[in-house]
Amino acid sequence: MFEQIQAAPPDPILGLTAAFVEDSNPDKINLGVGVYQDKNGKTPVLDTVRTAEERLVVAKTTRSYLPIEGSREYGAAVQDLVLGAEHRVVREKRAATAQAPGGTGGLRVAGDFVHKLRPNAKIWMSDPTWANHDNIFKAAGLELVSYPYYNAESKRLRLEGMIAALKKIPEGDVVLLHGCCHNPTGLDPTPDQWREIAQTLKDRGALPLIDFAYQGLSTGIVEDREGTGIVAEVCPEVLIVSSFSKNFGLYGERVGALTLVASSAEARANIFTHIRATIRANYSNPPTHGAAIVATILGDPALRAQWEGEVAEIRDRINNMRTLFVETLQKKGVKRDFSFITSQKGMFSFSGLTEDQVQELRDKHSIYIVGSGRINVAGMTPGNMDRLCEAVASVL
Ligand code: LMR
Repeated sequence: MFEQIQAAPPDPILGLTAAFVEDSNPDKINLGVGVYQDKNGKTPVLDTVRTAEERLVVAKTTRSYLPIEGSREYGAAVQDLVLGAEHRVVREKRAATAQAPGGTGGLRVAGDFVHKLRPNAKIWMSDPTWANHDNIFKAAGLELVSYPYYNAESKRLRLEGMIAALKKIPEGDVVLLHGCCHNPTGLDPTPDQWREIAQTLKDRGALPLIDFAYQGLSTGIVEDREGTGIVAEVCPEVLIVSSFSKNFGLYGERVGALTLVASSAEARANIFTHIRATIRANYSNPPTHGAAIVATILGDPALRAQWEGEVAEIRDRINNMRTLFVETLQKKGVKRDFSFITSQKGMFSFSGLTEDQVQELRDKHSIYIVGSGRINVAGMTPGNMDRLCEAVASVL
């Protein structure tokens, strides 16, 4: 059965990590996968996570199963974080949250759930988008379509093109949006543009699905949820997927969530039974540890304030690296204007480097960047900047 089968292609992002690990060059630089590194190139455990874990070790009395949708305490904490306790949807009890194994797990549950309820629904995704979105929604059985998002020449949003495309989509289709720190472009709509997008989706009867994996990495925890809050205010039904890989540094613990927003509290209760059923048929119920860490931090005002400080440190370090990258490229004699990189948000810079240039950086300099030209700015350090910029200058 297996002998005739050809190998699957390597993953465009995680496949790079595998190749990086194999590379024997001691000066190799990994700017592929979106994982934060501190100024010493280490991916740290946050202090608040350590404190929460210490508390949990003492407090844990059982390792029994969680309910299918995960812990209630965690679900409430997620809604408070993603929408805010004062948001109408939360006050009207129109939201229900299921814990999920990472953002990817949440997206897959959302995809399976939509496909089950509406087998013919298509999913509209920004061009470009995170490489794994294609895999997840294809595996869930949805048809993939794209809407314009990014103008590679001006390095700006193609808002008019996006709205024009969204105005034509059939009722009941799903539209995937990035809550903030669009991956890979780092370009997000302004609040006014979010309103226009939300109103268009409402008028079309489309279902917004928000992938919210970088809350806090653009401007701040509260500021970064503005777009999501607007969509949930305007559109009667929304799906929101959170990931706590980046903002809690809990990558390997696989901590995420799927929040359902329904048009009424009654509808919410009915629809949520299908999310439960989808989860039960997939991984039965979620793992306990990572979500307990997040709930502990968010449930303790002092720890939460400390955590917001840690997220701010991550954000500031990335932004400092953006500036240093642009300045160092100039110092190395690069004439091309890379200043747009300083206004992109989140972990990534959509650099405009071509696939050939990316390949040359890998082959000649052991510098690993995603084929689309997406650079993980969080992998840059003052220590690797000179070497990186000399290499980039040499391939331009
Ligand atoms: C990324 O975009 O690099 C991250 O979200 C990690 C991943 O799973 O691809």
